[in-house]
Amino acid sequence: MRKEILNLLASRPGEFISGEAISRHLNITRAGVWKQIQSLKESGFEIESQTKSGYRLLKTPLSIEEWVLERGLNTKTLGRKIKCFEELTSTNNYAKELLHQGDADGTVILAKRQTAGRGRMQRAFASPAGGIWMTVVLKPRLSLTDASKLTLSTGVALAQACRRLYGLEVQIKWPNDLVYQGEKIAGILGEVVGEWNAVQTMILGVGINANLERKDLPSDFSATTLKELLGQPIDLNKLVIAFLEELETEVDSLEKGDSEGLRSRWMSYAAGIGKKVQIERAGELYTGILKGISVNGELILEENNQERLFTSGDVKLRSTEGYI
Ligand code: BTN
Repeated sequence: MRKEILNLLASRPGEFISGEAISRHLNITRAGVWKQIQSLKESGFEIESQTKSGYRLLKTPLSIEEWVLERGLNTKTLGRKIKCFEELTSTNNYAKELLHQGDADGTVILAKRQTAGRGRMQRAFASPAGGIWMTVVLKPRLSLTDASKLTLSTGVALAQACRRLYGLEVQIKWPNDLVYQGEKIAGILGEVVGEWNAVQTMILGVGINANLERKDLPSDFSATTLKELLGQPIDLNKLVIAFLEELETEVDSLEKGDSEGLRSRWMSYAAGIGKKVQIERAGELYTGILKGISVNGELILEENNQERLFTSGDVKLRSTEGYI
């Protein structure tokens, strides 16, 4: 019903539609129309009401709205099926449950809040209202090695979307944190589902500190939010749309075999290249210069003129001078 009223209002942009016309079209009472309009206004839709002329839609909300996303998306597969929830334990967990229900390729799950958001290395991930907590389900036409590069593609897509929309010089901190001057804006948790060497499903979880305040986030790590960086709340729907469009382009390019293109885009956004860094792996510390990533996404560290490669698994990366 909600989407039908919105479709009707949007079918005549700028014009009023009478309560009676809406009630006839949707076969509900005038009081029913009024109630639906109130509920839309509560969700942040700006709708002008005039006793004589009816209703007209002025603005869509900044918060996540399925209808706004569906109308705005120009992608071929990504987000063609989209599900938004007020609250989930974790969008990645929900996406995994969904896999048993048939074709999920390109499905996108969003939640306004997560009660048990998960980060890399089995860490909890704070996900209060105001952020973007989403999962993209992909069944890419890729080998397992190439499918695991999709977390890099996700980081690149997010960096591109933020640069395009806000002109922000965001960077990617290996393996795929989005940072601004060393402070984390977003994190990515990629999970592979399926059998070894069989067609893989990738669950790409993305958490973005969007319309949050710094104080809404845990104090034990260096983070920031888009709202704080830009000085105003952003339209979450626009960011999701821009990100999904960028991600679709990245997935296409990987499916065409252009791993080198991905590596070079990733490198152009990478933070800390040429800096002295420390890597912690299984309790051991390695110090050297951060050179970049290999075509498979491993981190390249130069120690005493020798290169050592690290896979993202259980590795912590930190700077020894300033931030990364
Ligand atoms: C990290 O930085 O450690 C990765 C964070 C990934 C968080 C996102 S939020 C949406 C999706 N659901 C989860 O439980 N985690 C990912």
